[in-house]
Formats: sequence, structure tokens, C-alpha cells
Amino acid sequence: MLLKEKHIVLGVTGSIAAYKIASLASMLVKRQADVTVIMTPNATNFINPITFESLTGNKCLVDTFDRNFEFQVEHVSLAKQTDVVLVAPASANVIAKAAHGIADDMLTTTLLACTCPKIIAPAMNTRMYQNPVVQDNMRILERYGMEVIAPASGYLACGDTGEGKMPEPEALLEAIVRALTLKDLTGKRILVTAGPTRERLDPVRYISNHSTGKMGYAIASAAVRRGAKVTLVSGKTDLSYPAGVEAVPVESAADMAAAVKGAADEQDVIIMAAAVADYRPAEVADEKMKKKDGELSIALERTEDILAWLGAHRRPGLFLCGFSMETEHLLENSRQKLEKKNIDMIVANNLKQEGAGFGTDTNVVTLLTKEETRELPLLSKEEVADRLLDHILAQKTEATL
Ligand code: CTP
Repeated sequence: MLLKEKHIVLGVTGSIAAYKIASLASMLVKRQADVTVIMTPNATNFINPITFESLTGNKCLVDTFDRNFEFQVEHVSLAKQTDVVLVAPASANVIAKAAHGIADDMLTTTLLACTCPKIIAPAMNTRMYQNPVVQDNMRILERYGMEVIAPASGYLACGDTGEGKMPEPEALLEAIVRALTLKDLTGKRILVTAGPTRERLDPVRYISNHSTGKMGYAIASAAVRRGAKVTLVSGKTDLSYPAGVEAVPVESAADMAAAVKGAADEQDVIIMAAAVADYRPAEVADEKMKKKDGELSIALERTEDILAWLGAHRRPGLFLCGFSMETEHLLENSRQKLEKKNIDMIVANNLKQEGAGFGTDTNVVTLLTKEETRELPLLSKEEVADRLLDHILAQKTEATL
């Protein structure tokens, strides 16, 4: 997602994790955001303000009473034009000050003057993080409408292992994008399937496909960002679950069918982006199959078509969306699937087209409904996800009017 004309303030406090904010600032600038970094004086012991100035092209603010100010009351004018503030890493000290309205430096003063969404990413030693005082202060921040991002667990710079690690820059970027996104799917329940299924042959081997899950995961995170309650039923992938989804890991087509059917009644929308195996070994060996001389044939049987089952048992109001990957006769074959499976929309792509298909970060798709054929240009999978959700939302709104 491009962040053009978005003014983002990054508040950096004194913690070893401060160096990671350089890479966050760079990611934001690449997305065309206008980024201003405010550091506490302590933070300058961990990273030099010049690093942030070089990355953002904006002055890095440290002292409220800097004599080289551009604006008369810098913290107020900055606060007026800011779209989102992220304090990361947020020390126990800045959390306490923010919770109690103390404004004694540029960061805390700006935070108090800002009315935009505010996100706090605590980073500190586990013992400090778990201290009831810090916990209470974080609850106060939440009560005032700020988003407190739960820290990750892991090895901490002080040598301890536990809660208190600042989330990686990618997760912080996602939180910023989420805060800036219009919540037009609030109240909607969306189930997304993603990734490949694995069909076991024996305890060692399985049949699968090249799906990486990127498209389905992009849809799930876009839907969360837009306010939906999302269930992600996922085959095995190398991706981490997007923050905020209810993840249901599955292995085979039969597992996926059970998970989807079990949750179908509560959904407003189901998007089947998974590459579900059409066949599975007719028999699964209990022991490892040993090689023998000569050829081997494996009998395969059909798996259940989950989407067709949903189409045949649909509840009024449920919107069903499938995916169709073809190498020839894309529109004709996809339209047939739309009809045959009794679904509302199918997202068709041609595996042979440059920029489309498995594992890429981009996709070229055509959205087919009973009434319409809409070709989309080459887009990132993130953008395809948003366009797809826009289309579903428009169709659902039309249907309910
Ligand atoms: N799908 C499903 N259950 C299956 C197989 C596929 O729900 N057992 C879903 C996929 O998630 C996708 C759509 O159906 O949304 C794809 O349709 P499908 O007929 O399986 O496409 P292909 O396998 O590409 O069709 P064909 O084998 O006929 O080329």
C-alpha cells in the first residue's frame, strides 16, 4: 500500500531496539510517506539522529526548545498535520509519562498534542514489562484509545529470554497501515483459505503443489486491516500468520473441508484462495513404503470439492468467492467453474502470464461475476487483495439494498 501524502511520526526512546526503526523509516519512505522522527535524549545514545535525517529527509527532533525551529510551536504544528504516531521502541518511562499526561520533552509533548491514531510498541526487559505498574499504564493508554502492540517473546539484549522484544519492523509497518486504513469491513466475518494441501502417501511422503499462500495471506491481512473478523484456514506455508487473524492450520484437503464447513455458518464471506488437491492417494501406508525394482503406480481418488459443497449448501447472504488458475481458455473455464460451483465470484489468473501465479509478489487477475468481467492490471498481491475486497463489498452492498 502506498502511503503518499501521509504524515507519520515515529517516536524513538532509549532502548537497544531503536536501531531497527531505521529500517522501518526506510520502508515508510519507500512507500512515499512523509516521516518525522522524534527521539528522546536517551534514544540518541543508541542511534544517531543523523541516520534518521538521512533516511527521511526531515529534521530529527530531540529537544522541545531547539533554537533552529522551523515552526513557532513545533510540537503543535507537527501534531496538527500528523496522520499516525508510532512510539517504538516505547520504554517503561515513556509509557508511564504518556499514561499520565506528562509532557517534558519533544516526544511526550507531541504525543499529547496529537489527535490522530497513536500506536505504542513497548520494548523492555521481561521483568519490567510484567511489572503491574507498567501493565496498568498500558491499560490506561488503551483506555485513552491508543493501540498497544504486544511485544514478541525471545532472547533480549540483557541476556534474559521472555516477553518484551519489540516486534520486527514489518509488523510495525503493518500496524501503521492498519491504523491508516478505512474500516469499511467492520462487523463482517470473512473466512479465507490459503496455501497448498498435503495428501499423505506414507509417514514420510506426500503429494502437494507449488502454492506459497501469498495471495490468501494478503487477502486475510487486508481484510483485518479493514476491520473484518478474519479466520484464515491455511495449509502449510513459510509465511507467518497476519496479526489479528484467527489462524486454523490444516494439512490435507479433508482437514480443510472439515475446518471450512465447521466455520461456514458464521461467515458473511468465504474466499477459497487455497490450492486444494483434487486427488489424494487412495490408500495411506502406515509404514514407510520401501522401494522395489520396476515401476510404481499409485491409485488416486478424488478429494471433496469444498467450494462446490459450500455452493450447494449456502445460507442466504453468504458471499462465495473462488480462485481459478488455468494455463489456457482462462475466461471460458473460469466462467464454467463459477456456474458449476454456484458461487458469486471467481478470481481467474493464467499461470503462464508474466507476473501471475505461484510464489510471485504480483498477480494479474480477472474478476468474474455472473454479470461482469473485470480485468485488473499487473498489481502487487496486496493491491489485488484490496481490489478483490472492494468488489465483494460493492456486490454485497448492492445485494442488501
Ligand atoms: N477447490 C475446493 N476444493 C477442492 C478443489 C478446489 O474448494 N477439492 C477450490 C479452490 O480453492 C479454488 C477453486 O475451487 O477456489 C478452484 O477450482 P477447481 O475446479 O479445483 O480448479 P482446478 O483444480 O484448477 O480445476 P481443473 O482441475 O478442472 O482444471
